[in-house]
Formats: sequence, structure tokens, C-alpha cells
Amino acid sequence: MWKYRYQHYGGPEVLERVETESPSPGSGEVRVRVRAIGINPIDWKLTRGDFRLLTGFRPDRTPGADFAGVIDEIGPGVRGFSSGQAVFGMLPLLRAQGSYAEFVCTKAEHLAPVPDGIPMTDAAVMPLSALTAFRALFLHGRIAPGADVLINGAAGGVGSFALQLAVIGRARVTAVSSAENQSYCRGRGAIHTIDYSSADPLQDGSALYDLIFDIAGTLSYRRAIDGLRNQGMLVTVHPGIIALCRSILPRRDGKRYHLEIVKPDGRRLHRIAEHAAAGRLTASVEQVYGIEEVETAWRRSMSGHVRGKLALSV
Ligand SMILES: NC(=O)c1ccc[n+]([C@@H]2O[C@H](COP(=O)([O-])OP(=O)(O)OC[C@H]3O[C@@H](n4cnc5c(N)ncnc54)[C@H](OP(=O)(O)O)[C@@H]3O)[C@@H](O)[C@H]2O)c1
Repeated sequence: MWKYRYQHYGGPEVLERVETESPSPGSGEVRVRVRAIGINPIDWKLTRGDFRLLTGFRPDRTPGADFAGVIDEIGPGVRGFSSGQAVFGMLPLLRAQGSYAEFVCTKAEHLAPVPDGIPMTDAAVMPLSALTAFRALFLHGRIAPGADVLINGAAGGVGSFALQLAVIGRARVTAVSSAENQSYCRGRGAIHTIDYSSADPLQDGSALYDLIFDIAGTLSYRRAIDGLRNQGMLVTVHPGIIALCRSILPRRDGKRYHLEIVKPDGRRLHRIAEHAAAGRLTASVEQVYGIEEVETAWRRSMSGHVRGKLALSV
């Protein structure tokens, strides 16, 4: 099979396409022939060596977490999936053998069937971003109908799903984006929008939120905590020693802080698939690139201003 690989840390130019043996599924695993790949910033961040303390100093890795494709081999002990079935899912973030490959082997419990009528490229961009949003809003944030939610970075991959999922949960969403993406956010259900280039989302301190989801990582911690109601939660997705300490240390003011690190989760992916099947959740793919255009696609992702998601078609 073919796969993309890097053996040095660096930009998109370190990726090389190589031929290798196809993997075989182990117990509880299936093998999927990949049809589409969802691009996430973590793909090029890991390749750049941002987390080399975790990924090692001499990489031999295939990038990618998100994929959609067709099951072509079933390992022992797998129930509920069949050969030829269209499925989508994400691989664990730090796995060395990622999804930029002709085949991936993965635990069946991490997958969900692709809903009827959803293109492979739409399915492929959902798992990592939508699971991040789902876990932040519902698993940790536990938002209730009527909750006031601020989403900072609402027009990007995670933000587009967070916005739609919060609306599904009947929250009232204030979306922060560039001026160009204000109407995009309103079209996905935001009640208020803030253009970050002309206003600090938390500057006047008059609005209070039950949950602030700082996806862009640009909010002042102090102002964001002050912008929460009692029992409110601030969620970040940017790992680091300070974020880790803040998430562990108990607070005395009843407010909560959570560092979200997404993991594969087939059960919640099934819920996401149900919302997609019902038309409540859409993928918003800015552009689909051919797999051979991976370098161009990564450079677009690295701009930090993708509207929705980018996909690679295999
Ligand atoms: N910890 C985890 O498990 C986890 C999971 C997923 C993602 N992440 C991280 O979360 C970040 C976002 O991921 P993503 O997939 O959503 O990225 P993305 O698709 O590249 O989206 C980035 C968005 O940020 C917005 N943005 C840029 N500058 C901003 C600012 N100053 N204020 C508010 N919004 C701004 C952009 O909107 P405009 O074009 O409107 O500026 C863009 O739509 C990345 O750093 C990623 O690595 C972490």
C-alpha cells in the first residue's frame, strides 16, 4: 500500500509518499481502505515537531487522525461491523501510523457507520473536530438548554461543529470570528457575533457566560474567568504546563477550567452521525484537495483562517 511518512521534523516538504506492507487487523480491529482524510492542525504540528518530547527525536511517522473509508477486513472478536461497510473515525492523536495511508487498522469500537447520503469527504472531516466540540460542551461543560456560550474561533474546524452542537443543545451562542465570517456564524445559529479585529470579546465585562470555549487560544485567562457565571466553565484545547496546572488545581470561586485533549470515542461518534444524518450537523468543507495536493492543503490549514474544514480525497 502507499502511505505518507516523515523521518525528519519540518514543514509539509518533509512528507514523502512510500510503498509499504498493508497492516493486518488485530483482535477487536478492522482494516479500512481509506477514501478520504480530514485535515487537522495537529497533523502538521506533530510533523513540525511541536510535541517531540512525546513523539521522539527520530521520527518515523505517518501523519493523520481523521479518515472515512470502507471496511475490507475484520479482525477476531469484532461485532456490529461488516466487510464493505462505509465507516469513519479518528485514530489516537499520538499514534505513529496515522491516517494518510491507503489502509488503516483501528479498533472497531472507535468507528461509526457513515450515514446514508453523507459524502466520504464530509464524514472524514468530522471525528476529531466534532468529538472535541462534543466533549467540551456536553461531557465536561454539561451545558443545559438556555445556557450562554461564547465560542472563540467559531468559524474554524472545531468552532463550526461547536457552534452547531451548542445550538442543537439549545444554548445561546455568541460566536467570535473575523469580520468575513460573521454571517457564516450567524447562518449556523449564533445569536450574537463579535469581530475579534474590532472588539475584545470580553473587554466590557457586561456579558456573563455559562461556558467559554477558547478554541483560538487568544483570550486572557483572567478576563475569561471573570466572564463566567458561578459554576461556569472555561475550556481550552491548547495543552501546556500552565493549562495543565490550571486544570488540575481546584478553584475556590466555584468556576471551572478544563483542558480538552480529544480521544477516539465511537459511542459519541454515533451521536454525531445521528445529528449529521438528520441534517442538524453539517461538515462545511471549505475545499477538497486530491491526496497528491497534501502540501498545498497543509499550507492552507497553516494560514489559521480556514472556514470549516479541509479534506483530502483518495
Ligand atoms: N486539544 C485537542 O484535543 C484539540 C482538538 C482539536 C483542535 N485543537 C487545536 O485547536 C486549535 C483550533 O483547531 P481548528 O481545527 O478549529 O483550527 P482551524 O480549522 O485552523 O480554525 C482556526 C480558526 O481560528 C480562527 N481565528 C484565528 N485567529 C483568531 C482570533 N484572534 N480570534 C478568534 N478566532 C480566530 C479562524 O477564524 P477567522 O478566519 O474568522 O479568523 C479560523 O477559522 C488548533 O490549535 C488545534 O491544534 C486541539
